[in-house]
Amino acid sequence: MMKMMNRVFVSIMISFFIAHQIRFSFAILDPNDFLALQSISKSLTDMPGSNYLSSWDFTSDPCNFAGVFCSGERVVALNLGDPRAGASGLSGTIDPAIGKLTNLTELTIVPGRITGELPAELSELTELRFLGISRNFISGEIPATLSSVTRLRTVDLSYNQLTGNVPWAVGSLPALTNVVLCHNRLSGSLPAFVSQTLTRLDLKHNNFSGSIPPGFLPVSLQYLSVSQNRFTGPVDYLLPQLNRLTYLDLSQNRFTGPIPSSIFSFPITTLQLDRNLFSGPVQPFNEVAIQTVDLSHNLLYGEVSPLFSTVQNLYLNNNRFTGSVPTTLVDRLMAGNVQLLYLQHNFLTAVPIKPTEVIPVSSSLCLQYNCMVLPVQTPCPVESGSQKTRPTSQCMEWKG
Ligand SMILES: *[C@@H]1O[C@H](CO)[C@@H](O)[C@H](O)[C@H]1NC(C)=O
Ligand SMILES: *[C@@H]1O[C@H](CO)[C@@H](O)[C@H](O)[C@H]1NC(C)=O
Repeated sequence: MMKMMNRVFVSIMISFFIAHQIRFSFAILDPNDFLALQSISKSLTDMPGSNYLSSWDFTSDPCNFAGVFCSGERVVALNLGDPRAGASGLSGTIDPAIGKLTNLTELTIVPGRITGELPAELSELTELRFLGISRNFISGEIPATLSSVTRLRTVDLSYNQLTGNVPWAVGSLPALTNVVLCHNRLSGSLPAFVSQTLTRLDLKHNNFSGSIPPGFLPVSLQYLSVSQNRFTGPVDYLLPQLNRLTYLDLSQNRFTGPIPSSIFSFPITTLQLDRNLFSGPVQPFNEVAIQTVDLSHNLLYGEVSPLFSTVQNLYLNNNRFTGSVPTTLVDRLMAGNVQLLYLQHNFLTAVPIKPTEVIPVSSSLCLQYNCMVLPVQTPCPVESGSQKTRPTSQCMEWKG
């Protein structure tokens, strides 16, 4: 009997000891953060193939959980989901309890099937610098209250189903460096971005409209894509000041007015201004050192500048260019320095190529549908149609 009592006593002591140990280790983490993590995990589920949340065992110290990083007794970073490439991610929603993790500086969620809206409680994360919730199914609007997260630097909400405007107050966040909102359904006009440290703005593939007034984008910008929206208006007072751009894509909008000459001197490797309503002559100041220049499908006119001879891939097709193709451009093509030269669907009247000349196999030239008889036959993209020349009735001048 005594032995039995002893054994019971010992086992009670052991359980007490274990419980005490656990309680001691819990005490490391702030109880609000502990409860917030529990709520967050209850609102999410591992997708088949993901074993992320199943590894969160709340009888042990959450600061040791995968994706949870603590400093002292507070959670400072939360990376939800298995970060390995190809991992299947999480489903469910983002619990508003996230707002209780007030010392969080970084919040990321791996690509998956998370639905629902961004909780307004994100505004309570005043220490947050990095917010990355890309490639899920987040819908609703970007909460305007995000403007209270004044230290926010990176916001990546790309590849979701966000709708509505980018709140004016979000554009006013003073420390933004990277704003990646591409592939959503955002609309309305762009707010002014005031952060003088903003280097990347990617708004590609949304439904934005209106014009982008000069001064709405800071001179610190290095990467700008607004491709595939419904932006309108001119950019000739907006772009010249953005002379640190290394990437510029304005393609597939309804921008109008001239293309400012200064942008051809920017340290860019790819310049995409195609499929807009840009008009006027195009006159670079110096030899263009940009690798790929796409000005196709606009309303550009005048002669083709010989200063484009230093471009490797030059798309000037589907415009209203006239006159003769510059000799230097043809020479550089024949030398294999110009690798692609698309001039189809213009009003060009001559090209200095002899019928016996052979285009290098590494180079693509298309001259179809201009105001001249072609000296050489070259393969053209299918979309340029089968007609070799433009009907003479459309040509003011015709050189045979
Ligand atoms: C939590 O944030 C407060 C300021 O909001 C700061 O004073 C404190 O040092 C932070 N604690 C940790 C562990 O980072
Ligand atoms: C884009 O916005 C316009 C209204 O500004 C709306 O009529 C249209 O349906 C939207 N398109 C998409 C794809 O959301």
